[in-house]
Amino acid sequence: MSLSTSYRTHTCGELRAADAGAEAALAGWVHRRRDQGGLIFLDLRDRHGITQVVIDEASAPEAHTAAEELRTEFVVQVRGRVERRPAGTENLKLPTGEIELRGRAVRLLAEARTPPFYINEPDAVIEEALRLRYRYLDLRREEMQRRLAMRAALVTAIRAFHDASGFVEVETPILIKSTPEGARDFIVPSRFQPGSVYALPQSPQQLKQLLMVAGTDRYYQIARCFRDEDLRGDRQPEFTQLDLEMSFVAEDDVMAFVEAMVIDVSRKVAPERPIALIPFPRFTYEVALERFGSDKPDLRFGLELVDLGSAVAGAGYRVFDSTLAAGGRVMGIVVPGGAGISRSQLEEYETAARRFGAKGLIWIAIEPDGRGRVRSTIFKAVGEERTEAIAVAAGAGPGDLVLVVADANITCQEILGKLRVEAGRGLGLADPDLLSYCWVHRFPMYHWDGENGRWDATHNPFSAPVPADEPLLATLSGDPTQPSPEDPAGRARAQQYDITLNGWELGGGSVRIHRRELLERSFALMGHSYEGMRERFGGILEAFEYGAPPHGGIALGIDRWAALFARVENIREVMAFPKTQSGSDLMLGAPSPAEPHQLEELGLRSVPPEG
Ligand code: AMO
Repeated sequence: MSLSTSYRTHTCGELRAADAGAEAALAGWVHRRRDQGGLIFLDLRDRHGITQVVIDEASAPEAHTAAEELRTEFVVQVRGRVERRPAGTENLKLPTGEIELRGRAVRLLAEARTPPFYINEPDAVIEEALRLRYRYLDLRREEMQRRLAMRAALVTAIRAFHDASGFVEVETPILIKSTPEGARDFIVPSRFQPGSVYALPQSPQQLKQLLMVAGTDRYYQIARCFRDEDLRGDRQPEFTQLDLEMSFVAEDDVMAFVEAMVIDVSRKVAPERPIALIPFPRFTYEVALERFGSDKPDLRFGLELVDLGSAVAGAGYRVFDSTLAAGGRVMGIVVPGGAGISRSQLEEYETAARRFGAKGLIWIAIEPDGRGRVRSTIFKAVGEERTEAIAVAAGAGPGDLVLVVADANITCQEILGKLRVEAGRGLGLADPDLLSYCWVHRFPMYHWDGENGRWDATHNPFSAPVPADEPLLATLSGDPTQPSPEDPAGRARAQQYDITLNGWELGGGSVRIHRRELLERSFALMGHSYEGMRERFGGILEAFEYGAPPHGGIALGIDRWAALFARVENIREVMAFPKTQSGSDLMLGAPSPAEPHQLEELGLRSVPPEG
């Protein structure tokens, strides 16, 4: 496809040796300029590449005069003849490096101030706040343009697969009613109804379910979502989901579709990156915690958790005894070849463990010399033989290091899970090329919220229980509005599945409750009065009385997926205009104080913050 316009015949990345002799016009930014007296060299850049332009004072005096005034980032148009570069001066690093444009006419299209950072130095370290303040300059950099293009290719591949699989893309509104996904809502005051607000969608959850009631059968959307929550590397207040929902499906149907889609999209967007395991491994939440200490395991390396309960029982070590007596767990991971690590590296593991919430870290090192001598924090207390037996029970051999944590169930797994990731990545065991997807499913439906005396949905409040667990959606008191921590509901598992990639939660979804009565019972367990749930979820509860098909779906974070494809740690790197940690747009200066007349029209008054 030709990208020629009235300003250019070619892009700056297009001309090749075969074009030598042709007339061409290029338009772009001055990437670099070298003045060698009679000859001025310009590297002219646009999104497509860089072409060298040479302007000779002898043959093109006017163009030469114009080029003398040019500075980096000026926007220009150059006309001239394409010539092969003199032998020995080709630049093999540039796709256009065999040719140059001999400029005959130079037209200045726009001047530019000196940019606040180097746009033409790929390795320049640029202060983050500057990048965000001048995002349009940051985006001029080749790497950022590549990421934007990759992200666009990702969305194109997603659309193609869904379109071919009978899905209908439907846009859902941004001004809606609260859709709880566990974060605070952003709200928008209504001018027509002063005192009332819209909420921006935390996700299109209820709307996509209503589309299923509407008979849409298969819906998807590249959906913008808004959540007022604390930001991290993988979280922004405004982000994009691939949101989808399907009718007449069970858990396996949704997982099978999503898996096929994810494989197809990965092969299109990152064909050079191998997918670790197909079909994607599936773990129940319980097994994922037990083996990897995480509900988003990074499977690019082993270092699995080992239960050491029976190995340490009766060893006479107080921490182990008291933990086990209180129903807690003693578990470990084996760091292969870790026995040789330095004292300071050991201390780093210990600091990390404490950061993850551990009260301490016990280690056992088996000397590598084959004679099986051990060193350990518990050596003195339990003796050499028992210490070694514990290490062997963990699966360690000569030269290995065992890291042991004793703590309450789940806490123990979670601490070791984080330590596992720290060790695995630190030791370089995580192959950066690999795309390692996996499923984690069958999460508990609820967790007990002691503060408010109710059950809380661990994921989505609309998730259905595993069919066999439906009778568990009950309280001991018999009244769902009177929950207690001993209720059978605490044992119910949800038809909830998360998809993870290289240790990140990429997406989550579930089969939904599609019967009003069951949904009301579940809401009641979550502390809603019948009146309250009608107020908050009346729309969907009513819709379920008009024939709701069984349905389920999922949402995948596009920003996270793109970040993982781009091998970056922060989703900001794959978003054109992200917000800062404190939710600001440094470029446009948002948020900004409301105008007095705006507040007045909305019936609002601004109260200055105290202090
Ligand atoms: P959930 O809340 O798990 O599910 O979100 C799905 C996916 O969206 C991405 N995500 C985010 N990405 C960037 N910044 C954020 N603040 C952020 N929050 C979430 C993650 C996450 O896995 N309605 C349900 C889906 C369903 O059940 O169908 C939902 O939104 O990648």
